[in-house]
Amino acid sequence: MTDVSPTELTLEEKASLTSGRDFWTTKPIERVRVPSIMMTDGPHGLRKQSAASDHLGLAQSVPATCFPPAVGLGSSFDPELAERVGVALGTESALEDVAVILGPGVNIKRSPLCGRNFEYFSEDPIVSGVMGAGLVRGIQSRGVGASLKHFAANNQETDRLRVSSDVDPRPLREIYLRGFQRVVEDAQPWTVMCSYNRINGVYASEDPWLLTSVLRGEWGFEGLVVSDWGAVNDRVAGVVAGLDLEMPSSGGRTDAQLVAAVKDGSLDEAAVDLAAGRVLDLVRKAGARPAASGVLDVDAHHALAREAAGRSIVLLKNDGDILPLDRSQRIAVIGAFAAEPRFQGAGSSLINPTRVDAALDAIRAAADGEVAYAAGFTFDGSGDADALRAEAVAAAASAERVVLFLGLPAAEESEGFDRTHIDLPAAQLALVDEVVTANPNVVVVLSNGGVVALPFAERVPAILEGWLLGQAGGSATADVLFGDVNPSAKLTETIPLRLEDTPSYGSFPGEFGHVRYGEGLLVGYRGFDAAGKDVAFPFGHGLSYTRFSYGDAAAEVTETGDVLVRVDVTNTGDVAGREIVQVYSSMPGSAVQRAPRELKSFLSVALEPGETRTAELIVRRSDLAYWDIRVDGWVVEPGEYVFEAAASSRDIRSSVALELTGDEVRPPLSRESSIGELLENPATASIIGPAITAMFGDDAGMIKMMASFPIGRLAAFPNAPVSEQQLDELIAAGNA
Ligand code: BGC
Repeated sequence: MTDVSPTELTLEEKASLTSGRDFWTTKPIERVRVPSIMMTDGPHGLRKQSAASDHLGLAQSVPATCFPPAVGLGSSFDPELAERVGVALGTESALEDVAVILGPGVNIKRSPLCGRNFEYFSEDPIVSGVMGAGLVRGIQSRGVGASLKHFAANNQETDRLRVSSDVDPRPLREIYLRGFQRVVEDAQPWTVMCSYNRINGVYASEDPWLLTSVLRGEWGFEGLVVSDWGAVNDRVAGVVAGLDLEMPSSGGRTDAQLVAAVKDGSLDEAAVDLAAGRVLDLVRKAGARPAASGVLDVDAHHALAREAAGRSIVLLKNDGDILPLDRSQRIAVIGAFAAEPRFQGAGSSLINPTRVDAALDAIRAAADGEVAYAAGFTFDGSGDADALRAEAVAAAASAERVVLFLGLPAAEESEGFDRTHIDLPAAQLALVDEVVTANPNVVVVLSNGGVVALPFAERVPAILEGWLLGQAGGSATADVLFGDVNPSAKLTETIPLRLEDTPSYGSFPGEFGHVRYGEGLLVGYRGFDAAGKDVAFPFGHGLSYTRFSYGDAAAEVTETGDVLVRVDVTNTGDVAGREIVQVYSSMPGSAVQRAPRELKSFLSVALEPGETRTAELIVRRSDLAYWDIRVDGWVVEPGEYVFEAAASSRDIRSSVALELTGDEVRPPLSRESSIGELLENPATASIIGPAITAMFGDDAGMIKMMASFPIGRLAAFPNAPVSEQQLDELIAAGNA
């Protein structure tokens, strides 16, 4: 493609660039040799449709490696692993001549009920941002663009094309936008996909504050904004706001609207130039990648998918070290998920995998002896439940160890709708009871995209949270069961005891087009901790086949103003393992609302038996800032912060306090400012202080009571110590 600039194009040609040609490609302009480029889903594999495109995958897509969805990969807490998966995704995209792969998704898991939680990383923004940035770096290292989605505050599927996420500025900035900001600032994705929903009443697809002021102005985004498929409400408003490319095709209808708006003077042509120019930039970037040759190395990518899956499995409990299994033990495998794995979620991310490993086959291949199998239940509830259960109980009774696969059937969670409860099917819960009675040596392996309640947790000695693990999840599960892989993943979301305990309960999914983010900042573990609620398994939890001890944490401010936390970690067991060291911060004396602890940094550390390493974790100063609504900006509060080195959010191993200098905040003064606020401002304190003393004497109680009084009201009092004019001068002095 030659270097075409929007100025060489007619208005009609420019408008034509700003919407798709069909489901997946942009429009070419033959006259000036601008080619069409292709975008496809994402995020954990390539979904390039081979037959007539129909969007949601009714037509089969080309075979591609299905890597662990974000719910799994996120649990690795390892951005380098995410980057390697990204490289593989980029490679597969390049081989299929795909310019942009539609992912990662970094929306926050606000509620365990969200049907798309399997596609998102965490209830925490730092985990989401760090993992998302790793994936983007990997994808884009292959000359393929990523698409950071769904921007923003798209945290549910219910009414997702219309609902307004009504969220206050602090949680919006500190929780819901923070992960996006991290990915944009650290990895500069080629594209950002705006979400379907509205935010505080405004569609994301036509929100100039979101798409231009914040994304480009504050964060420095240089790429293109694409709509989620069908997210455009008003195309002209979208172009004005900064939505460059509408997908999929509107059949030319919205292009014509842009042309008409320019002609009737209601739309500045410069806005169309900007959008078309960004499409041209994207096409140019895509064209800069040398044509990929060769074929997909199916085996190598499957091996990477297996490694990533092994790093995604969370060992929730392991009483009496029942795991790893001994290969010579008589094993009974129970549960339909073992033979028919559920390894991905439904909707736009559905991959046509190159192959699929079933855990049952992998266990049989790894075990020395015979492995019995009973399905125990069916996914759809068909068949004779009693007979299925009886067969499973008989298999359990005659085995030494039982590996019991439970999970959510595919029909229970998907893009497009939310769950209404977090329970496993009743037939499965009944099965656990009877199996455990027949043989207590049970290892439960879970397959689920969203969190499920585990009412049997106390009654089984071991649980592996296997999430959705991608196409190699079955073999990875066997790797972990037999100890070929030592589990190291940890929970990126809390597993609650009951749905009713979750912070968003009662304000999810809203009604009549609005969902109020009533829990504010207290999302996920922040909320459980603030309320002091027990949980089944806390955020950050995950066991290993070895043990780790921590030394005393130390913290210092670096030259760049960040905080460096150092802590020695020792592998005290006798097998090699990996520990995910977490650093949380808190500020006990803070003047603003804060969660009891917030994750600020994490590191995956590999340790041989007996080895000690000093984990060095950087806490960015910017991550310590809160969003100050008085000045509409990030502020680091001065004072003493506590940094905790932890094995989970509820397993704090060592903590250290550090005094930090803060940012100076000068909230503008007005007649609405309180006496207390004027007393805090050095420019006004010297005048207002004596005036208040003149009025109220030295009565400290009285002065304290009056501190919240707006100064403008005081000036109206009969015996006011300041005149209206003096007041205006005082305010001006304070604002100078
Ligand atoms: C989804 C996106 C996806 C797009 C294209 C939408 O329905 O929300 O995540 O990338 O479709 O398939």
